Amino acid sequence: MKTVMFYNQKGGVGKTSIAVNFAYLAASEGFRTLLWDLDPQASATFILRGDDDDAPKASKIVSEESSLDELAISSNYNNLFLLASSLKMRLFAEKLAESKNPVKRLTRILEATQDEFDLTVIDAPPNLTGLSETVISAIDLVVVPLQPSPLAVRSSQVMIDHLASIGLSEKCVALYNMVDLRRIGHRVAISETEPIGKLPKLRSFIPYSADIEKMAITREPLPVISHSSKSSLAIQGLYNEISNLIYAR
Ligand SMILES: Nc1ncnc2c1ncn2[C@@H]1O[C@H](COP(=O)(O)OP(=O)(O)O)[C@@H](O)[C@H]1O
Ligand SMILES: [Mg+2]
Repeated sequence: MKTVMFYNQKGGVGKTSIAVNFAYLAASEGFRTLLWDLDPQASATFILRGDDDDAPKASKIVSEESSLDELAISSNYNNLFLLASSLKMRLFAEKLAESKNPVKRLTRILEATQDEFDLTVIDAPPNLTGLSETVISAIDLVVVPLQPSPLAVRSSQVMIDHLASIGLSEKCVALYNMVDLRRIGHRVAISETEPIGKLPKLRSFIPYSADIEKMAITREPLPVISHSSKSSLAIQGLYNEISNLIYAR
């Protein structure tokens, strides 16, 4: 089983939107996919039409009393399962930190579902701070969405440098989201091939698109709203690029 997390300590950069679409595309390709909503704001849960009652207590996950597949619910889509979130999930970091070896514990929690899922997609909360190193150590790839503006890049830089300093940046890649091709700054940013700071940049980028905002209104993944729009094709391209990366590892 492979595990990918969408992470940035900044909110509003597109972690949830992209995680939901990525998980949906993997599932539609036939991979049994778990979308783990780790954010107590529960936006991914909302989009996939889960609610508070579907969300397990964090302690149930950390104590290994139940495995993730037992706690997950089916979504409306084939092969796509949701580990729903609610305010209860805010205690996950604290509970996991209490265990003797948090990385080992989380690795075991994920491995316990090896036979049930081919892929786990984690939608991270913005304030994963204390937990980010633990989670990154236990998974295959971290995708860091950010906007191609100098300020957004700068604020992600601190986090990226920190991950590099503890040897974790090798698992991380950056992704430009909300790209507006009418803006010269955005065109320059996406054409650059150099890493962003110490983070390699994905070739794919996601354009600014009203259809992506619609996901929270119709509560559907983007390819269901608009199958062949520019943004939907961009998400498909991103899915292909990331799958190549994780399966090459
Ligand atoms: N490419 C995009 N184009 C337009 N709106 C976007 C795009 N990506 C995300 N959004 C919107 O930006 C807001 C924040 O996105 P979200 O996925 O919730 O970010 P995060 O999970 O990082 O907080 C949401 O309203 C979402 O619909
Ligand atoms: Mg989010």
